[in-house]
Amino acid sequence: MKSSPIPRLDENELLHEGLLKCCRIHKGEIWEDPAGRHRIGCFDAARASDVQALMGTRRAVLAVQDPPYNIVAFERRDVPQFIAWCRQWVDNTYSVLDENGSLYVWMGADQAQEFQPLPDFMIMMRSTPFKSRSFITMRNQRGYGTQKNWMAVRQELLYYTSGTPSFDVDAEYTEIPKILRGYYKEVGGKRTENVERSGSENIRAGNVWVDIQQVFYRMVENVNGCYAQKPLKSVERIIRASSRKGELVMDFFAHSGSTLLAAEMSGRPCFTMDIDPVYCEICIRRLEHFRRTGLTGWQNGHPFEKDLAERPELAGFVEDTVKIPDAFQTALF
Ligand SMILES: C[S@@+](CC[C@H](N)C(=O)[O-])C[C@H]1O[C@@H](n2cnc3c(N)ncnc32)[C@H](O)[C@@H]1O
Repeated sequence: MKSSPIPRLDENELLHEGLLKCCRIHKGEIWEDPAGRHRIGCFDAARASDVQALMGTRRAVLAVQDPPYNIVAFERRDVPQFIAWCRQWVDNTYSVLDENGSLYVWMGADQAQEFQPLPDFMIMMRSTPFKSRSFITMRNQRGYGTQKNWMAVRQELLYYTSGTPSFDVDAEYTEIPKILRGYYKEVGGKRTENVERSGSENIRAGNVWVDIQQVFYRMVENVNGCYAQKPLKSVERIIRASSRKGELVMDFFAHSGSTLLAAEMSGRPCFTMDIDPVYCEICIRRLEHFRRTGLTGWQNGHPFEKDLAERPELAGFVEDTVKIPDAFQTALF
């Protein structure tokens, strides 16, 4: 089995710089999908003109936003600054969202720092035109802090709407079997249990998701080099519930391109952006790789294998899988 991942690109400046030479688009440019479905832009989500450039005259019915919030530029003491920045991309989202649209936001809560920035973000959202709809918790398989605290295993996902968007959760059954029994009812003179009365053996998706595997290096969908990948299953669930086939989805923080790929797999076009050309290139390559091979990521490889083989100056930055500990994507993103 081939084993050639690359290190996290946010932690390896030299490799990141080298990979910039492999990028097809740079700041202010757009990659148009030759199949005519998607669009990837190298833009700043906080700049209204950048968002307009990506969207053109189109409006999306669904926005799936997963901003970085614990990066160096926004140290924890700068929460107000971070929230002001969020307000900019939220306003930009609203400006290109259908009048009946949905906004999902992944946002973290640091329990060691008064749960920042989640509550601050929620309060800020009260003064926007969006209406709060749900507060979803996705359970990670692995957590941290088991000795002196409850193990931290949750990821927070906020769901807001504008107008009256479509919502189809009826189709959204999880893979979790119904296990709780003991709730009986008489139906036609016969005592029936809750499990017998329902159409499915499994439970419907509620606002606690415990059936989604966190991305880690042994998974096919893993994109080595990325550090904040959301599981495809979580994004597919959002897309299927809050958009219809053919309707436009957008994501301003593309990174590994999970929203893009989930949209491709669910028959929706996706307009997405990232401020960093390297992640834009990863998104393009992930889509191309999927169309070519049917694979959703690079379990034992990475998107830049060919480039590194051809550029010996970059090859020194490649590590071996065995050196990577049981690497789950960081819980805080
Ligand atoms: C948390 S990651 C998103 C992860 C993504 N949902 C996935 O599943 O791969 C955040 C991304 O936002 C990008 N980013 C940071 N600031 C940005 C900005 N102002 N505009 C657009 N993208 C930005 C980063 O480069 C990073 O790739």
